[in-house]
Order: sequence, then structure tokens, then C-alpha cells
Amino acid sequence: MKISGTPYRTIWPTAAGVIRVIDQSRLPFEFTTLDLKTLDDAAHAIRTMVVRGAPLIGVTAAYGLALALREDASDRHLDEATQALQATRPTAVNLAWALARMRSTVAEVAPSERVDAAFREAGLICDADVEQCRSIGINGLEIIRRLAETAGGRVNILTHCNAGWLACVDWGTALAPIYMAHDAGIPVHVWVDETRPRNQGAALTAFELGGHGVPHTVIADNLGGHLMQRGEVDMVIVGSDRTTASGDVCNKVGTYLKALAARDNDVPFYAALPISTIDWALDDGRAIVIEERSPLEVTHVAGRTSSGVIETVRVVPEASPALNLAFDVTPARLVTGLITERGVCPATRDGLRGLYPDWQKAK
Ligand code: MRU
Repeated sequence: MKISGTPYRTIWPTAAGVIRVIDQSRLPFEFTTLDLKTLDDAAHAIRTMVVRGAPLIGVTAAYGLALALREDASDRHLDEATQALQATRPTAVNLAWALARMRSTVAEVAPSERVDAAFREAGLICDADVEQCRSIGINGLEIIRRLAETAGGRVNILTHCNAGWLACVDWGTALAPIYMAHDAGIPVHVWVDETRPRNQGAALTAFELGGHGVPHTVIADNLGGHLMQRGEVDMVIVGSDRTTASGDVCNKVGTYLKALAARDNDVPFYAALPISTIDWALDDGRAIVIEERSPLEVTHVAGRTSSGVIETVRVVPEASPALNLAFDVTPARLVTGLITERGVCPATRDGLRGLYPDWQKAK
């Protein structure tokens, strides 16, 4: 996707051999990049959400492992680096998926060849993510097209958090079908949940959609249900950080409430995700480890003042404690369908196995 007319991915290797990422902690106010040169750089970028979004976390971890092997290609360091990267964020399964894939590739070669093999594999994971997101876009586009034909006008789509190209390498998951619908001339308008506490919707989704010229409106997280009651939402599309083998969808906290409101108002609710987000080992979403982040993200809000300074201010009384659970789980029964790179399926075990009969080997 483009920023001010220049095409970008969220992560790429430079000629100098470092991994360059867009620093998402400074968006939408400043566009800057950051160079990751070491394992610690990569782990820090994931932990502090310089990079975030399930697919991008996975790709960054893959490159992080390659950087680690450049420091020391021994078995011992491979283990330590894997553990360090795995410990950065617990919920998005893409992280464990990418690390497992990297390890199985690297383990097959002698330590002297590991660095090249690791960078090559990370590049393949990165490129595959782009193609998977493109296919998710094509598959989701058909749903939007059908809605446009039956509704006969503008299609209003609600989304939560940021599941666009900034959360992946390019295109995005939930936003890919929206970009493709817009590019195909289908009139779409997006209700963008601000997504407290980190405001990924207000800061990143709005930045992305605005950059691509997609009509959108940022709303307080709590408005979605009311808009659905008024018939102003035709569909919901969200991303996912971990989808269980039976179709439960773990995503940014607040997603579950949108799914409940959607069901009560007969609004179709879709989750868009690539294979790297499916946790085949888990059936019940309630077993997913939900990341608990600093209460400071709830008690404080960051923004730009009228004089152009980015500041963080407190919005909660000094004495009040806060709880910051970053994700929730939407049970499969509330999900109309899963939009994947292989097609759209019901959020059921049979639905997923039908699309991925080769799930034990598929990459
Ligand atoms: O905490 P974040 O910003 O990493 O959370 C991201 C989300 O929850 C996204 O909706 C999710 O990764 C969707 S996949 C593109």
C-alpha cells in the first residue's frame, strides 16, 4: 500500500542487512522507520508495539530469529532466541507459528548455513503473508459485492482495531476486502471503532483508509450497537489474533461485544484471517492466554496537542486502579463466516477442515 504515493510494506530487509520497520507507535502523527539489527531490537519492537498485529508480529519474530542466528548460530542460542521472542506477546498465535516454521527450517542445516537459511525462510514467510492477504481480499470482496447488489447502495462496514496492511506486511486481513471493493468501484464506507485503550482504530485504521481514499468515520467504541439498531451497519469485518480449530475468534478486546450486537441486529459478522492465525491444537477459545498489559494504557491517553507536541495525559483519578486485558474471544456461534486465503467457510471445525484438508502440513 502507499503512503503519500510511495508503495511500502511494513517490514523489509535493507541492502545493509538490517530489518527496517515502520514505527507504528508514532502514527498517525509521524511517519518514521526503525532499523532492527539484533534479536533484542526485534523483541523490543514487538513488546512495545512498534510493530503490532498478528501477522506482522509473526514476520518480525521470524526476522528476529534470523538476526539472532547472525549473532550466534549455535543450538543453544537458537533455543534462547526462540524463548525470548515467544515471551514478547502471548496471544497472537502467528508468533509461535512463525518461530516453529523457522526452527524446523534452520534445524535441518549446519550452523554455518543457518543465517542464510533463516533470512531466506523469513523472506518466504513475509512474501506468503502478502499473497495470503491479497487472496483474503479477493474472497471477501465477493461478500461485499453481493451486499452492494442486494442493498443497492453504499455498503457500511464496521471494523474494530487495526486489521489492515499495517497489521500485516501488505493489504491487511479485514481491510483487504474493503480496499478491493473500493478499488472495484463499489461504494463502501467504514465505521472505524476507535479501539481503546491503544486506539489502533483511530490512529492506524483511519490513517490507512484515509491514505487509500476510502470513506470512513471514526466512532467511539460504544456506538456500534446503536448504529446497528438504526440499520446503519451492513456487515462487520474484524481480524483475528488466534482462531481455534472449531472457529472461536480471539481478537482485540471489544470484538465480542460487537459480535453480540451484530447477532441481535441480524448483521453479518465476519473474521478475516490467514492460516498462520489458526491454532489447530486448540478447540475451545476460553483456553487462549489473554495478554494483560500495563494499566497505564487505560489510565492515560496519548495525542497531539494544538502546538504539535505528542503528549500523554492521565484521564483516570490518581487513586483508581485499572485493568488492561488486551483481547477477548468471540464464540464461533456468533461468527457468520471466516474469510481466509482459501475461501470463506463457516466458523466450525468442519468448515475449517474443509478448506484446509492438509492442515497438518500446510504452511
Ligand atoms: O494489540 P495489537 O495491536 O497487536 O492487536 C491487533 C489486533 O487485535 C488485530 O485486530 C489483529 O491482529 C488482526 S490481524 C490483522
